[in-house]
Amino acid sequence: MNFRGRDVVSIREFSRQEIERVLHVARDMLPVAERRKRSNMLDGYVLSTFFYEPSTRTRLSFQSAICRLGGRYIGFADPAVTSMKKGETLADTVKMAEAYSDAMVLRHPHEGAARLAAEFCSKPVINAGDGAGQHPTQTMLDLFTIKEELGSIDGKTVAMVGDLKYGRTVHSLSYALAMFGAELIFVSPRELQMPKDIVESLSEQGAKLKSTTRLDEAVKEADAVYVTRIQKERFPDPNEYQKVAGIYQINAALLKDAPEDLIVMHPLPRVTEISPEVDPTKHALYFKQAFYGVPVRMALLALVLGEVE
Ligand code: CP
Repeated sequence: MNFRGRDVVSIREFSRQEIERVLHVARDMLPVAERRKRSNMLDGYVLSTFFYEPSTRTRLSFQSAICRLGGRYIGFADPAVTSMKKGETLADTVKMAEAYSDAMVLRHPHEGAARLAAEFCSKPVINAGDGAGQHPTQTMLDLFTIKEELGSIDGKTVAMVGDLKYGRTVHSLSYALAMFGAELIFVSPRELQMPKDIVESLSEQGAKLKSTTRLDEAVKEADAVYVTRIQKERFPDPNEYQKVAGIYQINAALLKDAPEDLIVMHPLPRVTEISPEVDPTKHALYFKQAFYGVPVRMALLALVLGEVE
C-alpha cells in the first residue's frame, strides 16, 4: 500500500484496505484536529486549493487540515479573480499549482476536470468535486462518520435520500458502501433516480440495493439516513427543478417512529431537506460529520505527501 505522490480522483481507485488505512490514520489525527495535541508533520509544505465552484466545508476543512499539521495553503475560491478570465486553460492553471505547491485540491463544475488536472500536474491532485462526477474525500469522511458513530460499516443499512441523479456525494458513497458490505436504499422521485450505469455497476459488484419513493418507510429500516440537497444549479431546465423542489424533508414528525439510534447525515449545505428542529436531537450527525472532514483530510494529505506510510 503506497499513497505517496498519489492522486485522489475517484473513490473507485481505492481498495477497501486502502480506505481502511485512511480511516485509521484519520482516527490518529483526531486529537490534532481538535487541538488537544499539536503537530508539525507538514511543516514546510504548501497546498494549493483551487476552487472553480462555491464551497464552504471542503475548501475550509482542507485549509484547516494543512494548517493544523503545520503547513500552509495558497489558492482561490472564485475563478473570476484568476487568469481564467483572460482565457487561460485549466491545464495551464494546474501547471502553476505544480510550480508553487506540493499538492493540489481542485473543485470544478465539469466532470472529468480532476482527471485532466492529474494528467497535467506531477504533484498529487485531490478531487474536491467535479460536476456531477465524484467527491472522493467526502466519501472518506462519510465512511469515517458511519464507522465512528455506528461502530462498523459492514451490515449497516444506509438510506440515500433526494437528488441521486446529480448528487456526486451519493455516487461516490454508494460504490464505497457496497464495497464495505452495507445495504443501500435509494429514496428519490422518479426524475432524480440513481443513474442506471451506477445501479448496474453496483449490482455487478453484488451490492444489496432497494429503490423506493417512500422516505417514511426507509427511515424505519435504516441505520443511517444520508440526505442530499436537490441541486438547483445542475438542472438544465428550471421547470424540472420546480417539480421536485422540497419533495422530502426530515423533520420531528418523521423521526417520531425512527429507530432510537438512527443517525441523520448530510454532506451539507442543506436548504429545506432537514428541518432545523432536528438539529438538537440525538439523530443529527451532519455538523459532526462536517468536522470529521478535518481529520480525514489531514490523513489524506499526510499520506499523499509521504509523511505517513
Ligand atoms: N459537502 C461539501 O462538499 O460542502 P461544500 O460544498 O460546502 O464544500
